[in-house]
Amino acid sequence: VAGPSDLQSLGRQLEWLRNRLLELAQERNRFLRHMSHELKTPLANIREGTELLMDGSVGELSEGQQEVAAILRSSGMRLQQDIENLLSFSAWQSKTASLELSEFDLKSLVNAVLRNQQLTLASRNVRVKHKVEDLRLRADREKIRMVLDNLLSNATKFTPVNGVIYLRARREDAQLILEVADSGPGIPPDERSRVFDAFYQGSTPQQGHVKGTGIGLSVVMECVHAHGGIVEIVDGEFPGAHFRIHLPLEQVEAHA
Ligand SMILES: Nc1ncnc2c1ncn2[C@@H]1O[C@H](COP(=O)(O)OP(=O)(O)OP(=O)(O)O)[C@@H](O)[C@H]1O
Ligand SMILES: [Mg+2]
Repeated sequence: VAGPSDLQSLGRQLEWLRNRLLELAQERNRFLRHMSHELKTPLANIREGTELLMDGSVGELSEGQQEVAAILRSSGMRLQQDIENLLSFSAWQSKTASLELSEFDLKSLVNAVLRNQQLTLASRNVRVKHKVEDLRLRADREKIRMVLDNLLSNATKFTPVNGVIYLRARREDAQLILEVADSGPGIPPDERSRVFDAFYQGSTPQQGHVKGTGIGLSVVMECVHAHGGIVEIVDGEFPGAHFRIHLPLEQVEAHA
């Protein structure tokens, strides 16, 4: 700011304030990142312990104990997803996000994601119909995993008991098309522009006892954008929500 000295001093103070706010934002994100890291290790132990209980390797469980272990397991999964989302969300806020590229098979990644959510799917008797083409990618595996994980967990949570989830991946022209759809109530048109905002939760009631934080789809969008792609909500083919992701193959395909 140029001009009389009081204006100049105002300008300096504003500049100081701007820097201070930037610093605070960075501090907040650093804190968030450290906390999430600290939370992840004990949580991994809790999850492993629960698995041991559930598969009976430390003794058979009674029916009631099994039920409790199942609740522990799904809450552990839920917490893990929240922490992962929070971590990557804060990474983007501080603009430190970068892609960690590696080569992997899309099919085996999809299978790993499905396996991880298998119990939740089974407990609500939700079937997954998947059709995934053989594709070898060179991309950030963890980010693509989070995309699938979040879309799938949304589909599971919003589709009614006995519902169906559709998961497809194919190449089309120079793009990889990833689609996740479900047989739930879908997303009301007037909420579609906001569902990708962080912390926005729509009016659709959620099944189950643990409420989300509204961060999942914002992470999905960031992950997709980071790979040069786009994500859209489409209509017509399925009764429920239908997410379609376009990823440029020149960015994400592995070349022999
Ligand atoms: N498959 C779906 N069917 C119906 N509505 C959906 C579906 N996926 C997302 N939505 C709507 O979009 C909103 C935002 O989704 P998002 O994944 O960001 O948050 P969340 O699932 O509510 O919480 P979190 O992902 O943090 O656990 C949801 O609250 C819901 O209203
Ligand atoms: Mg979600």
